Amino acid sequence: MTQPSPSNLAALLDRDSAQAELFELLRIPSVSSDSTRKEAMGQTAEYLRAKLASLGFSARVDETPGHPVVYAEHLKAPGKPTVLVYGHYDVQPEDPVGEWVSPPFEPEVRDGRIYARGATDDKGQAYAHVRGAELLLSQGELPVNLKFLLEGEEEIGSPNLEPYLEAHKDELKNDVIVISDGSRFAKDVPTVTYGLRGLAYIEVRVQGASRDLHSGSYGGAAPNPINALCEIIAGLKDEQGRITVPGFYDSVIPLTEQEREMWADLPHSDEEFAASIGASALPGEQGYSTLERIWGRPTLDVNGIWGGFQGEGSKTVIAAKAGAKISCRLVPGQDPAAVTKALMDYIPTLAPKGVQVEVIDHHGGQPVKFDLDSPFIKAADRALERVYGKPAAFGRTGGSIPIVADFARILGAPVLLVDLGVNEDGLHSPNESFAQEDYFNGILTSAYLMQEIALASESE
Ligand code: BES
Ligand code: MN
Ligand code: MN
Repeated sequence: MTQPSPSNLAALLDRDSAQAELFELLRIPSVSSDSTRKEAMGQTAEYLRAKLASLGFSARVDETPGHPVVYAEHLKAPGKPTVLVYGHYDVQPEDPVGEWVSPPFEPEVRDGRIYARGATDDKGQAYAHVRGAELLLSQGELPVNLKFLLEGEEEIGSPNLEPYLEAHKDELKNDVIVISDGSRFAKDVPTVTYGLRGLAYIEVRVQGASRDLHSGSYGGAAPNPINALCEIIAGLKDEQGRITVPGFYDSVIPLTEQEREMWADLPHSDEEFAASIGASALPGEQGYSTLERIWGRPTLDVNGIWGGFQGEGSKTVIAAKAGAKISCRLVPGQDPAAVTKALMDYIPTLAPKGVQVEVIDHHGGQPVKFDLDSPFIKAADRALERVYGKPAAFGRTGGSIPIVADFARILGAPVLLVDLGVNEDGLHSPNESFAQEDYFNGILTSAYLMQEIALASESE
């Protein structure tokens, strides 16, 4: 008997030290997209390696052409399942930095929440699994064989992880991949997430005249790239909120009635949802509920737009250039490369005369959806019930974790998404936070999940 008392780990959890260590991790500004933060990336990886090594894992930092990968394994449960925990130690940029109440890389607790960039996405959630392993190890051996794969490039589309998976396929072999990198359905609803949207991300650049022009001397006659860009963008959706790009919806797998009913039964209120983001109404594709729009339908959103005069006061000028960044969230059936191609073919056709349009392909990611009928999903349900005192809800999520589709394809293992945060944590926003309670419950969830996965394999 390696785990004498499976049930009451809560009393054994050292909350102070779990929080102090997370703070150390949060102090390192591991912004993957910022080339001036390269050293911080290495420091964060080394922090995680050293911690896992101190727990008895065989742990190393593997360099890649980009940011390093931390790999660790603890394989001392012969005959038991092997679990691979994936997470990411890189974070989004902290801008707009002026909107943070406390500095983004100086973690601080206010009203029961840990405020810092990466608190929930994903340092806090990933570290909950490290401390979950520590908690189990403080009571004996681990009930499963455990591997950690912690990367530093998720927020930039994981450009180097796919080749890493290919190169380390055998070593990474496992029975199930556990990921905590999202938001559960609501504060009081533990959630197992069974689908992620994919992503196609493009940039549109519009060039008009060869230089900026006086808007009196030339206005009315010269092409205006900002107006042109607005026409293009306006042409990408119709009044029903449907995307007009030819072929866009062709391969979308429609939602089943059963799934729509299951989602309709979840405790959701449009009024509360609108209020939670300070919006007065929820525009969106007609014929679909809010949850369907977020979890089960593709989107096209302008993420950024620029051009012309942005300074104080007014300047009478017709800009020579304008541009926009546009993301499409994709659902099962859609392929990012095909959607990107459809966008690239269609967008130039929407341009008025006199401007040149260039469409640039940024990163993408495949959508995924998992089978709900799996012993691992049941193990997660039981683990969550032990922590939260109620059974889990099953939902999808609107976000993307690009590498997940490659996990299924290259490693051939099922993926279990056990989200430990909530939307109000403000992923990617200023004042990102993670409730202390969610962090501590996350540690317990991780520990119980490993026990339940071990038990599930016994009863097979
Ligand atoms: N943790 C998020 C993904 C996520 C967000 C899942 C919300 C569930 C709910 C992840 O770190 C992320 O931000 N992903 C990016 C992917 C992109 C940079 C390729 C995303 O979804 O925008
Ligand atoms: Mn994340
Ligand atoms: Mn993120």
